[in-house]
Formats: sequence, structure tokens, C-alpha cells
Amino acid sequence: MNVRIVLHDALTYPCPLLVVGCCEDSPDEDPLLASCDTLLGGGLAAIRASREFTGKLNRTKLVHTLGRLPAERLLLVGLGKRAELTAERVRQAAGSAVKAVRVAGLPRFATVLHRSVASVSRSLEASLDGCLLGNYGFGLYKTSQAEEAPLEEMTVLAAEEAERESIGEAAGKRTVVCDAVNFVRDLVSHPCNVATPAYLADRALEMAGRLGITCRVLEREEMERLSMEGILSVAKGSHHEPRFIILEYLAGEPGKRPVVLVGKGVTFDSGGISLKPREGMERMKDDMAGAAAVMGVLRAVAGLRLPVNVVGLIPVAENMPGGGAYRPGDVVRTMSGQTVEIVNTDAEGRMLLCDALHYAQRYRPAALIDLATLTGACLVALGTVATGIMGNDATLIRALVSSGAATGERLWELPLWEEYGELMKSDIADMKNAGGAHAGTITAAWFLQRYVGKTKWAHLDIAGTAWEEKGRPYCPKGATGVGVRLLVEYLQRIAG
Ligand code: BES
Ligand code: MN
Ligand code: ZN
Repeated sequence: MNVRIVLHDALTYPCPLLVVGCCEDSPDEDPLLASCDTLLGGGLAAIRASREFTGKLNRTKLVHTLGRLPAERLLLVGLGKRAELTAERVRQAAGSAVKAVRVAGLPRFATVLHRSVASVSRSLEASLDGCLLGNYGFGLYKTSQAEEAPLEEMTVLAAEEAERESIGEAAGKRTVVCDAVNFVRDLVSHPCNVATPAYLADRALEMAGRLGITCRVLEREEMERLSMEGILSVAKGSHHEPRFIILEYLAGEPGKRPVVLVGKGVTFDSGGISLKPREGMERMKDDMAGAAAVMGVLRAVAGLRLPVNVVGLIPVAENMPGGGAYRPGDVVRTMSGQTVEIVNTDAEGRMLLCDALHYAQRYRPAALIDLATLTGACLVALGTVATGIMGNDATLIRALVSSGAATGERLWELPLWEEYGELMKSDIADMKNAGGAHAGTITAAWFLQRYVGKTKWAHLDIAGTAWEEKGRPYCPKGATGVGVRLLVEYLQRIAG
């Protein structure tokens, strides 16, 4: 959706539809709403009095102005109680507004949502994010046009010249970030017969070429030379060859230690020989959401020209139960030299990540952050509301949790006490690849920790947050693109 900024008074702006935010309490405090109400002969007050629309968060009300206002329609969108207003609520209200405009069948709208909430810090960014993310749809495989087509354009009304500039700057930046989120949603939404390891590698190369990012893709022979047996083992059951994608964006101080991001890229997780139950297996196309998010972060930071050094490492394979597949009981010597007894081929993500985390050491990372749809147990523990975070550095975790709170991509820490390691002991190898029924999210992270050495590291388990089943105000059903806004925020803060 194109964002246009126009310097114009909202009350006198002619347009098919104007979106206005309304708080639940004291509506007459808002001069724009008060003027609209007067011109509509008390129409807005009547709507409130009848309780058809009270300003409750995410509720909307379309009002035809019948020539009494230059805007043909007003779309009132609820912001909830003024005292409870947060950036997240503005994001949600903006997403709800976009949905209502789409239902109304109009291709464009004007908005002052950014202004009615001037008291909230970053409300402009929040309303842009809500609109740009809420407008997403994945229609690529539908041969007939969806009923509610995505909107083409939004017009943000600026009150004065100085505001026009700052809105323009914010709109440019948030468009870059939200395009990256929607790019990730697309990658995750493609079916697995399209989004193969080779496909992801091609998309990475294509994106890197356009944005001045260095991209190298390792294929089987080179991965064998590097002894990436963790990744290669997982790939053995599939006809699709694995890939190892390396993205380098080095726009920070030369020689400054980079932030290294690692993303789990399992293009389809059948479970392998430890086959998953048939119900819901199709959902396992999202098992490369971590990989896609890393690509999205690189795309966004390059688009923003952030002065930071960031490296993305993305191991990609498909977990299938073919004749050559790795099996329970196998012992795998991973790239780091540590041996792993496979007790469950469905715990494949950590087999990919352990080689990538080990490979990451060669960059001497300032921080190492991995994203993975790693455990069903994380979905059980935190639901779809928060991403699980674990790691070995309290400062890094705190910084990430804080960026999560600011972006609405919330993180919740789980402990990594050493007792959990007991569950991973193997009789035959250095450790098992799965610990059993208890503390599944933590034992997975504990496994990963054995590959990061002394590097400051955080692990994000996005198994619950990468996929949205019902649809939320600015996140339609399906792939969420989680991780991009969070990590871009974190990197922006580092860049200062
Ligand atoms: N990709 C799955 C985790 C997952 C499950 C993500 C449900 C999203 C929704 C992962 O590879 C997996 O299968 N994990 C196992 C680990 C177990 C075998 C130790 C799991 O969660 O059951
Ligand atoms: Mn699995
Ligand atoms: Zn998996």
C-alpha cells in the first residue's frame, strides 16, 4: 500500500473516507470529533448515546456524511480508554480500521489516526505499522480475485509543514520495515512444494543483489567439507538438497564485531522416521519461519541503511522419512565435534542450528541471536501470545525483551538452569537430541547452548508466535512475520 502525505486540515479535506480515532471516554475533548459532530447535527453524539459505538478498542463505525462534510464517510475506530492508550493499541486500532475500509469496498482512505493520539509516544509509527501490516493478504494461489482486495493507498493528513516532513520520514522507514515483515509472511505462506531449500537460497540471492548485501550459498559438497553433519543428517531423508545461506550486511564501523542472526530453515517438518501425527501436519510448512525472519531483518536493515554490522546464517533442509533418512539410534558427529545420539528425528531443528551456531563463532559475534520454531512445548507454555527467550547473557536478554515490549512482539524468559542438562544425557554419545516430556523448550535451548561457547547468545523459540490461527487486528490468519520488527528495533537501538 502506497503512503501519501498531504498537508491539509482534516475537517475540510475532501475524500471518500476519513479514519478518525475515538477514545472511550470524554469524546468532546477531541476538537476534530467535536467539529464533525456539529456539522453532522449531533449525529456522532447520537451514535454514542445509543451505544452503537462507544470507542471500545478495535470497534469501528462507518458514518455517511451526506454532504455535510467534505469527507464522504467517516470511519470511527475505537482506541479504548484514553488513560490506557499504548502504541500497541494504536497498532491494533489501525489494523482494525484497514479491515473495515476493505469490508466497505473502498480502495483508499485518509487518516488522522496518528494525530488523535498525539499523547502516545511513537503513535505515528504505530498507526503506520497497523495499517501496513493489517492490509496484508496472501492471494497468490487463488485464481479468482479475493472479495476484500488489499487497499492501494492511504493518505496521512499532516497539520503543518514541519509535521509533513517528519511523517514523510517515518512513513519511508515503516514502509521498509513492514514490507520486510510482509515479505517474510509471503515466504512462510508458500507451500512446501514451492518453498524448497533451493527456493529460499534463490530468494536470498535475489534480495541481496538488490540491496547491496553479500550473499553466499553453500551446497552439499561444501557443507560436507565443513563437516556440517547436523544439517546433512536431517536432509538425508529428502530429495531436496540442503543449503547454508550466508548473508553479510557490514555498514557499521569496519572491524566492529557483528550481530549474528541464525534462523531455523526446515522447509517442511514431517518429523522424519519419528513421523508426526497426520492432523495439522500441513502447518509444518512454517518451520522455516526463523530462516525467513532472518532474511527479513537483513532486508529491512539494508533498506534503512542502518550503520550496523549484521550477519545472517540460515541452514535450510527438509525433514522427510525417505530411505536414506537419519534414524533414531544414529550417532551424529556435528560440525563442532560433539556427538549426538538421535532419539527422535523430529527434534531436527537443533541439529540444523547447532552447526550454524558453531559456524557463527568465526565472526566473533558481539551478540548471537537465533530464531526457531523449535518446540511444540513453547506453544503449550506461552501460547501464541509470547515468544520464549533463553540465553546466557542477562544484558542481551533484557535488551531484547525491551525491544519486544516496544514493538508488541513480546518475549518471555524461561530459565536455563544446569539441572535441565541432566535430561539430555546419553549413554553412548555426548548428549541426546531430545530430553523427553519435561521442559521441552528449555532442554532444546540447553542443547543449543553447548554450541555457543562464551559468545553472548539468546535463543528465541517462535513456535507459538510464527503462525496466527484466528487472525488479530494487524495480523491476518497465517504467517505472522514475527521477529522482524523486534530485531530491527533492537538493531536500531544499537546503531544509536
Ligand atoms: N517444528 C517442530 C516444533 C513445532 C511444533 C513448531 C508445533 C510449531 C508447532 C519441531 O521440529 C519439533 O518437532 N519439535 C519436537 C521436539 C521433541 C521431539 C523433543 C516437539 O515439539 O514435539
Ligand atoms: Mn520436528
Ligand atoms: Zn521442526
